[in-house]
Parts: sequence; C-alpha cells; structure tokens
Amino acid sequence: MALLIPLLVFSMLFTSSSTEFSAQPGICYGQLGNNLPPPHKSIKLIKSLKAKRVKIYDTSPQILHALKNTSLHVSIMVPNQIIPNISTNQTFSNQWVQNNVLPFYPHTLIRYLLVGNEVITSTTNLTWPHLVPAMRKIKHSLKLLGLRKVKVGTSSAMDVLETSFPPSNAAFRKDISAQIIKPMLGFLNRTKSFFFLDVYPFFAWASDPTNINLDYALFESRNISVTDTGTGLVYTNLFDQMVDAVYFAMARLGYPGIRIFIAETGWPNGGDIDQIGANIYNAATYNRNFVKKVTKKPDFGTPARPGWVLPSFLFALFNENQKPGPGTERHFGLLYPNGSRVYDIDLSERRSKFRKLPPPENNSPFKGRIWCVAARGDNATLLAAALSYACSQGNRTCDPIQPGKRCFKPDSVLWHASYAFSSYWAQFRNRGGTCYFNGLAMQTAKDPSYGSCKFPSVRL
Ligand SMILES: *[C@@H]1O[C@H](CO)[C@@H](O)[C@H](O)[C@H]1NC(C)=O
Ligand SMILES: *[C@@H]1O[C@H](CO)[C@@H](O)[C@H](O)[C@H]1NC(C)=O
Ligand SMILES: *[C@@H]1O[C@H](CO)[C@@H](O)[C@H](O)[C@H]1NC(C)=O
Ligand SMILES: *[C@@H]1O[C@H](CO)[C@@H](O)[C@H](O)[C@H]1NC(C)=O
Ligand SMILES: *[C@@H]1O[C@H](CO)[C@@H](O)[C@H](O)[C@H]1NC(C)=O
Ligand SMILES: *[C@@H]1O[C@H](CO)[C@@H](O)[C@H](O)[C@H]1NC(C)=O
Ligand SMILES: *[C@@H]1O[C@H](CO)[C@@H](O)[C@H](O)[C@H]1NC(C)=O
Ligand SMILES: *[C@@H]1O[C@H](CO)[C@@H](O)[C@H](O)[C@H]1NC(C)=O
Ligand SMILES: *[C@@H]1O[C@H](CO)[C@@H](O)[C@H](O)[C@H]1NC(C)=O
Repeated sequence: MALLIPLLVFSMLFTSSSTEFSAQPGICYGQLGNNLPPPHKSIKLIKSLKAKRVKIYDTSPQILHALKNTSLHVSIMVPNQIIPNISTNQTFSNQWVQNNVLPFYPHTLIRYLLVGNEVITSTTNLTWPHLVPAMRKIKHSLKLLGLRKVKVGTSSAMDVLETSFPPSNAAFRKDISAQIIKPMLGFLNRTKSFFFLDVYPFFAWASDPTNINLDYALFESRNISVTDTGTGLVYTNLFDQMVDAVYFAMARLGYPGIRIFIAETGWPNGGDIDQIGANIYNAATYNRNFVKKVTKKPDFGTPARPGWVLPSFLFALFNENQKPGPGTERHFGLLYPNGSRVYDIDLSERRSKFRKLPPPENNSPFKGRIWCVAARGDNATLLAAALSYACSQGNRTCDPIQPGKRCFKPDSVLWHASYAFSSYWAQFRNRGGTCYFNGLAMQTAKDPSYGSCKFPSVRL
C-alpha cells in the first residue's frame, strides 16, 4: 500500500503533464516550394501522419483558416524583419497580434508564438538586442487581448553555445550570454514558457564523420556510449548529448528548471554528391527512432533531465524545392510535394511494420571529382543572369568561354553556364560557395568536358 500511493501520485502527475504537452511529435510545415499542395490538402496530410501539432514560419491566413476546428495545436511566428519594430513600439505589437492572431483564436488552437526564427544565427547583431524586448511586448499584447493560452518563445540553433562538450561543461556564447540569453531565460522562466531549440545531429555528425559514429547519431548504437566525465552521465546518442548541453548551459546561468521544446529536428533524405549520409535510409531511421524515443513511456527525457517530456516538431512536412543552400536543405521532407511519403513513418506510436528501405549509398565520403553544371535550360533569361553573375566572381572564371577560346563552342547559354558554374564553384567551394544558383545548377560526377575544353572541378 505504501508503495502504491507514491506510484499513483506519480502517474497522475505524469498524465496531466503529458496531456498539457503531448510527447507525440508535431511537424514543421515549411512552404518554400513552388509545387506544394494547398493548405487544406496539406493539413489532411499532416493528420494522416498522425501529427499532434504543426509549426508554421509565419501567420499565413490561409493556413490558419484551414486549421480552424481541427485538434492540431499550432505554433506561429513573428518574422525576423519586424522584431525591431515590435521591440520599440507596444502599439505596433498590439496591432500585429490583433491582425495576425486574434482573427483565428480560439477556433485555431494557436498555442505557441515564436518571436523570430534562429535570430542569433540569421540576423546581424543590430537585431539581437531587440529580441527579448520584442518577446515581452508580444506577451503583453496577448495578455491585453486575453489570449492566455499562447506561450511566447523564440527558436535557437545550437550555435548559441560556445562549448557543448562534455554537456556538463556547456556554456552560451560570451557575446550573447549576459546581454541576450540571460534576460531571455528570465522571461521564459517567469512566463513558464520553453527554450525552443533546433537540434540537428546530422550536421554535427556530417562535419566530423570520422570521429562521430553514424549509429550514435541515428539512435542506433548498441555498443557505443559517451560518458560525461563531469557528471558520470552516460550518453547513448548524439541528440541527448546536444540537448543536455543546452540544459547545462541554462543551469549555469541560474535557470535549471526551464523546459526545452524541440522546435526542429530531422535528417535529410537526399542532398548533393559532396554531402555525406543524406539518404532515405538514414532519414527514416533517425525520424522513426526519434518518434520512438520521445513517446517511450515512462522513460521520457534525457540523462540530465530524466522523466521530462520533450515536446517536439519534426522538420519537415515536405521537401521544399526553393530553399537556398546545399542540397540537403531541399530534402528534409517526410513527404514529396505530391503528397506521397518519402518513406513509411507514423508519428503516433512505435510501429515496426514498415516497408523495406533502399540501402544507404553515401554513408562514407565521396571520393573523386565533381562538376557543377546547368540543371535546367527552360528559362534562358534566368540562366543568362546566373551565367553573368558567376562570370563576375573570382579570377578569370569565364575566360575560356569567350569567343574564339577553347570552350566557346558549342555557343549556347546552357553550355556556357555549365562551364561558368563549374569554374565558379571550383574557386569558391572551400569558402562556402554552393552549386545552386537558385536551382539552376547541380553537381555531377560525370565529366562534362568536351574536346580540348576541360571543365574545372572540385576534387574530393
Ligand atoms: C468552427 O466552429 C465554430 C464553433 O462550432 C463555428 O462557429 C465556425 O463556423 C467553425 N469554423 C469553421 C471554419 O469550420
Ligand atoms: C519597421 O521599421 C523599419 C525601420 O524603422 C521601417 O522601415 C519599416 O517600414 C517598419 N515596418 C513596418 C511593417 O512598419
Ligand atoms: C508605432 O506603431 C504604430 C502602429 O503601427 C504606428 O502607427 C506608430 O507610428 C508607431 N510609432 C512610432 C513611434 O514609430
Ligand atoms: C557587431 O558586429 C560587428 C561586426 O560584425 C562588430 O564590429 C561589433 O563589435 C558588434 N557589436 C556588438 C555590440 O557586439
Ligand atoms: C524560475 O521559476 C521558478 C518557478 O516559478 C522559480 O521558483 C525560480 O525562482 C525562478 N528562477 C529564477 C532564477 O528566477
Ligand atoms: C559495435 O558493434 C558493431 C557490430 O556488432 C561492430 O562492428 C563495432 O566494431 C562495435 N564497435 C565498438 C566500438 O565496439
Ligand atoms: C511523387 O513524387 C515522387 C518523387 O518525385 C515520385 O517518386 C512518386 O512516384 C510520386 N508519386 C505519385 C503518386 O505521383
Ligand atoms: C523566367 O523566370 C522569370 C523570373 O521567375 C519569369 O518572370 C519569366 O516569365 C520566366 N520566363 C520563362 C520563359 O519562363
Ligand atoms: C584571385 O586572385 C587573387 C590574387 O592572386 C587572390 O588573392 C584571390 O584569392 C583569388 N580569388 C579567388 C576566388 O580565387
């Protein structure tokens, strides 16, 4: 009997906390594609994945309208650009909430309002001091308008940390710790909100695949563990290690009790030739294991915060063909734009009957030469503009395609663009240059050189 009572109390606590913050992941509904289904169709797809919540990166009225009277909890976002306007002007903040939130509340279950997206990572330090004042103003506006169920936060990437290993040694970056993070934590603690965190073991692993084990990054390690010598805590996957680093960094600033909300996590199902480990097999493995991990009862949580429910959003609903950057950026979807699944997944449970996956083919680094060529020639105007941009960069980038030179013929925009892209990328790849050109370029391992014209290449 003595044993039963505490157990009962525990399970009651447990139930109430898990109804408030479901452990079942939600999904990030990004819209940076020109071939995505309309909102009502997308929401049907979200429901078919059994997601509990959905995060959008704006306040699209079409989407918020389509979400009316569904049971999906919704996270919306203040765009980074207007953070300074909000931080300096309560009236502006009130109007923003009135125009963008109020019309959809309460029939759309808006529960989270993120003030900006990875503000520290993607804006200049002129915006940073505006972040926390903007969060306070938005919270105040919500209160004035009686929207009490909406938590205010902001999403952060792992680069807010200066050190993250071992987790117990983690700390926020010195340039933001005292001025921005500490007041932010004060706000989050006082309003019982969350630290919204974007966590990508993929990027950590891909930047150092020789020292980090792939299975450790995919929640698949049976025999690999990492012990934090500061605490003795044992880690069996990279995700827990990264999340605990943030808990420890917050504790270091005096806030051990703030909960983390995984604002994004996921693994790309494809990418460029020079990117490692981005494939359907790994994406399915990571995301399925992630669902299993966060919904596993009763041992939720991480080594530093056992038992704490970790609410989350998986990134992302669709492959988004208009996201800039390396190919992986356009391949995080659980679904293709036509709505079919890239691989079987179910966000609700530990299902194990899935169809067989294609074997991974790029889990070790690519070895050889890569060229960057024109991907499509359907829009000559756009291609000519990209060609002219590439030629304006670097040293003698386009000399060989000038009239009379060895790569001039065949004299077509498509051919010249392919040469220019290869020449540009060969010079700029090691400085962060990408083979993308708004989707006009792609990598190839097949040498496009012809006759005496040799295309520059990247050798890996
Ligand atoms: C949602 O439900 C409310 C209350 O039942 C109703 O008044 C409203 O018309 C519904 N809206 C939509 C878009 O279905
Ligand atoms: C926000 O502030 C900037 C700079 O003061 C201004 O140019 C811009 O028009 C403002 N945005 C809105 C939506 O009012
Ligand atoms: C504050 O925002 C309101 C609403 O957008 C605007 O009318 C007003 O001019 C702004 N005040 C200042 C000082 O910019
Ligand atoms: C902001 O960044 C610039 C360079 O990017 C730097 O010179 C300046 O010191 C920074 N300002 C603050 C307040 O950190
Ligand atoms: C954070 O919030 C908790 C619970 O409301 C409170 O007990 C604690 O004192 C707060 N921490 C700080 C550093 O303000
Ligand atoms: C872990 O197990 C795998 C497969 O059983 C084996 O290939 C690998 O060498 C082991 N790794 C370590 C660190 O023991
Ligand atoms: C959807 O798109 C994918 C990727 O382009 C393709 O493989 C699949 O066959 C398409 N499915 C349907 C039903 O059209
Ligand atoms: C090429 O792209 C531009 C910009 O998107 C567009 O305005 C133009 O209509 C396109 N031209 C053709 C021929 O598709
Ligand atoms: C172009 O040449 C200059 C001088 O040799 C050099 O400093 C610069 O790094 C070169 N640029 C590229 C893109 O290679």
